[in-house]
Amino acid sequence: MTVDRRSRPDTTRPAGPVSTYTEWDPLEEVIVGTMRGAAVPQWDVAVESCVPASARELFTRSAGQPWPRAHAEAAEAELDAFAGFLTSRGIVVTRPDPVDHTRSFSTPRWSSPGGLYSAMPRDLLLVVGDMIIESPMAWRSRYFEADAYHRLLTDYFRRGARWIAAPRPLLDDDTFDAGFDRETPFATGSYATTEVEPTFDAADFTRCGTDLFAQRSHVTNRLGIEWVARHLDPEYTVHIVETIDPYPMHIDASFVPLAPGKLLLNRNKVKDVPSVLDAWDVRVAPEPAVPDDFELYMSSPTVGMNVLMLSETQVVVEAQETALADMLDGWGFDILPIPFRNVMRFGGCFHCVTADVRRRGELRSVV
Ligand code: ARG
Repeated sequence: MTVDRRSRPDTTRPAGPVSTYTEWDPLEEVIVGTMRGAAVPQWDVAVESCVPASARELFTRSAGQPWPRAHAEAAEAELDAFAGFLTSRGIVVTRPDPVDHTRSFSTPRWSSPGGLYSAMPRDLLLVVGDMIIESPMAWRSRYFEADAYHRLLTDYFRRGARWIAAPRPLLDDDTFDAGFDRETPFATGSYATTEVEPTFDAADFTRCGTDLFAQRSHVTNRLGIEWVARHLDPEYTVHIVETIDPYPMHIDASFVPLAPGKLLLNRNKVKDVPSVLDAWDVRVAPEPAVPDDFELYMSSPTVGMNVLMLSETQVVVEAQETALADMLDGWGFDILPIPFRNVMRFGGCFHCVTADVRRRGELRSVV
């Protein structure tokens, strides 16, 4: 018996079930997350570093319990409607398996009162070409998050995709630094995660063909970025985006490539764009529409710039983010408005709640 030892994407044969090189090639198949079974995470160093201080009380009191029901249900209704919208456009939508994240778990070294959710596959699954990489996430509550996707991933693997998981991190106490810099981690290099082992979240990476962009965040360390860079095929280059974000976690509401030559930027989070993108048109996102008194459990109000491209021109934008929609309209995009504010409460928008499995297109350089 022989095994197909393909080591590179083979562009001479038709694309397999998994094939994504950019954030904008025409979307054909996507995983959409779910809030079903979601639980409040435990308050700890890694969580504190990335979420609003106002979440402390709820996370301390209710770790391992379901989220406030009305909020979770409203978010799930929006997720279902979004999935239905994508389906109506001919895009194949898959959803994670049901998982009860309120179950406590432990490793031989620590325990957690519960998990988090299966709402944000983007955070967990890094799809590059025909390969799906499971991230070694730094939040203990997210240790087993990949379980909800294993049936799906096995199916993609059976049909020809490559599937790997980064080394399972220990997440001992020395993976974290309680004395991290709460104001300027980017200046001092003092983040909530240390460098004792690689950790990363997939959402700290973004893809532009042969070039990927990544940020050091409170959950993604230098070793994590190095691990990804060394495991991609040799045609890829990973560039590091230097941020000015006091709470860095996930690059996709800070540095958002929309189409070849077009980059949307969060001025509060990124000052300098890597010089490989000097020829690109870089525009700053307008002020978000989310009012100050709208309770966001896990992100800043600018999370609405976390848009999803269905193609180089079509962009899904949160229905109330009209300033952003107008700006993108003036930049030549077709706007597809979808209500999603209840999902935004839980830390993400359209890009976060998806993991694109297949986009029609080939590997090329766009920088
Ligand atoms: N950390 C970002 C913010 O506070 C949110 C990023 C969300 N992205 C994601 N993939 N979950 O605005």
